[in-house]
Amino acid sequence: MRITLAPLEGVIDYLMRELLTEMGGYDLCITEFLRVSDTLMPERSFYKLCPELHQGGLTNSGVPIRMQLLGQDGALLSEHANRAIELGSHGIDLNLGCPSKMVNTHRGGAVLLKEPEFIYQLVKDMRSNIASQHIFSVKIRLGWDDPNMVDEIADAIVQAGANELTIHARTKVDGYKSEAIKWPAINAVSNKHDIRIIANGEIWNKQDAQNCQKISGCDDLMIGRGPLAMPKLAAVIKGSQQPMTYVELLHLLVRYSRNEIAGNKCIYYPNRIKQWLNYLRRQYPQVIVLFSKVRTMKTTPEIVDTIAKELEHCFDVNI
Ligand SMILES: Cc1cc2nc3c(=O)[nH]c(=O)nc-3n(C[C@H](O)[C@H](O)[C@H](O)COP(=O)(O)O)c2cc1C
Repeated sequence: MRITLAPLEGVIDYLMRELLTEMGGYDLCITEFLRVSDTLMPERSFYKLCPELHQGGLTNSGVPIRMQLLGQDGALLSEHANRAIELGSHGIDLNLGCPSKMVNTHRGGAVLLKEPEFIYQLVKDMRSNIASQHIFSVKIRLGWDDPNMVDEIADAIVQAGANELTIHARTKVDGYKSEAIKWPAINAVSNKHDIRIIANGEIWNKQDAQNCQKISGCDDLMIGRGPLAMPKLAAVIKGSQQPMTYVELLHLLVRYSRNEIAGNKCIYYPNRIKQWLNYLRRQYPQVIVLFSKVRTMKTTPEIVDTIAKELEHCFDVNI
């Protein structure tokens, strides 16, 4: 089983990748997407999104990172792919699932799922321009609004020569509705093709992972929001660790806060931590109270102080 940490734009950045991969169980990370529009981006854009390129494309705990690209121009995407690989990316991932209106309006992301023939040409162009020893993976949803489209889309991607295909088991129109998840739709694709197919969507715990593997027919999984709700999720799925206790989690939050504040993204800290606490509420009922305290806070010091006090309180009451 291979577990990939999913790309989550604006949520799983390099600091979060660092923190999560250090807990074990993750075999690969995909970065947030680099948007390719009309000119070759400077090297600093690659490093900004993926500072791990400075260290061989590996997190400090040695997990390889693959950069994700988003766009629709085969030649330009190939140029960016080769630049990313030259700089240290472990292969390239192409985003064909992004539902953002802005991205879709510019004919990028999920909107391309309406055009399997165009996908075929795009993937073929890229594959022929990226040296064959480098993995070229593609990430899709089941379709724009019709989940049955996945068969034709997957055929196009496989025939065009991609090495791996990740399927987020919902259509674009399904958004993130949990009840819309369709793991069975992956099964026909994974049975039909020999390339590595990776199942993705709504895996929040070990049981979900096992169900998803069984229903989708995929050994390999990609998880995104799940690890935010349960940071050790990959190791828990693999059976090597138990979920963190609440106190361990608070220590992690304190460390995360320290890293965020020291890093160059400190202005985003209040929003980032609220976003994370919001996911954590799902697995840790105690976070519901903590989140309600932090929710209206605007400044970093008051939030950091509140988390530190929560940790002290746990020691006081001996949790
Ligand atoms: C806030 C957010 C940002 C995302 N950003 C990306 C992205 O940059 N590239 C991508 O391919 N998918 C992106 N996704 C989709 C996820 O990678 C993943 O497919 C989806 O969340 C379902 O998996 P999960 O249930 O394990 O989270 C994003 C999802 C969310 C919620």
